[in-house]
Amino acid sequence: MTLDHLFDAAAKPKSAPAGSITIRRPDDWHIHLRDGAMLRAVLPFTSAQFARGIIMPNLVPPVTTVAAAAAYRERILAARPAGNDFRPMMTCYLTDQTSADEIEKGHAEGVWIAAKLYPAGATTNSHHGVRDLKAIRPVLERMERIGMPVLIHGEATDPTVDIFDRETVFMEQVLLPFLKDYQGLKVVIEHVTTQETTEIVRAHAPRVAGTITPHHLMINRTSLFQGGLRPHLYCLPVAKREHHRLALRRAVTSGDSCFFIGTDTAPHTARTKEASCGCAGVFVGATALQTYTQVFDEEGALDRLEAFASLHGARFYGLTPNAGTIELHRRGAAMPAAVAVENDEVVIFRGDETLPWSIGEVRP
Ligand code: DOR
Ligand code: ZN
Repeated sequence: MTLDHLFDAAAKPKSAPAGSITIRRPDDWHIHLRDGAMLRAVLPFTSAQFARGIIMPNLVPPVTTVAAAAAYRERILAARPAGNDFRPMMTCYLTDQTSADEIEKGHAEGVWIAAKLYPAGATTNSHHGVRDLKAIRPVLERMERIGMPVLIHGEATDPTVDIFDRETVFMEQVLLPFLKDYQGLKVVIEHVTTQETTEIVRAHAPRVAGTITPHHLMINRTSLFQGGLRPHLYCLPVAKREHHRLALRRAVTSGDSCFFIGTDTAPHTARTKEASCGCAGVFVGATALQTYTQVFDEEGALDRLEAFASLHGARFYGLTPNAGTIELHRRGAAMPAAVAVENDEVVIFRGDETLPWSIGEVRP
């Protein structure tokens, strides 16, 4: 069965009062929600803007079993604000020990939508990740057979590789041979940060797709040092040169269905970011949709926002787009600069700015 008919009519945003647009409710295909107090503090921001979300499994310990993922899903559902209908979709954290049967079981039971491939050591809580792609060959072949996508953190882990080249080196040395090896596997290259990667995604679409974060559309590598060191802009993959940022803007506004939202919202406390060795991750969950909308507006492409935000991802994952709508207003809105978590806080990306777009009514 094809879902094409569900997508055709929705390409144009419905008209709305001047200065506003209404689009189908969007989904966020890449979210870090953490657990416990942090989960309770950050989830309301994501669930206020997105109807569904793919939840990353890099907890401590990582989510490697169907039972752990199902239990984590229950904790997320329980942490939703009263009356909220956000639907979390779970992922399996791949390790060298992952079993193909566990993968297939979780997929068949509707627990996992995809599996996340962290090359070991590439980023936050990735040290249990994959060291040897050969070790997970049976897993990848099974995923290929059952149509379960693999979501890839695409950075080289060799510490001698320049940090600004790690995505490019990974694409050349690992990803391109990998795509040849597994020609039927559905792949999402997460948080694309370079022009070259956008070209790889396009060249391998539709079975390959790419997510692009709000922050990589707004900042370049110079932003990390603007007036001093900016720990809250540090994430992995790190922001690249300006021409890459512009290429990402062209990709998201192109209308190409191989690109869709993945905010990579990744909260860490201020204490762990503002440290002698600060950790990677930008908390963008509170300002994500406002930022994407601003980018589409600046690029003269508001008529393509709905496709990027609410249709392309659903199509890739074989899901029905959301029925409800969300309004976006061209109206300055102040944000809190940070959200309290226990006796610390998480700094919100652009929380100290008056954003030109704000979120209006959500209709389920
Ligand atoms: O900056 C990042 N933070 N990149 C990742 O890939 C992981 C994330 C996190 O979990 O904090
Ligand atoms: Zn991530």
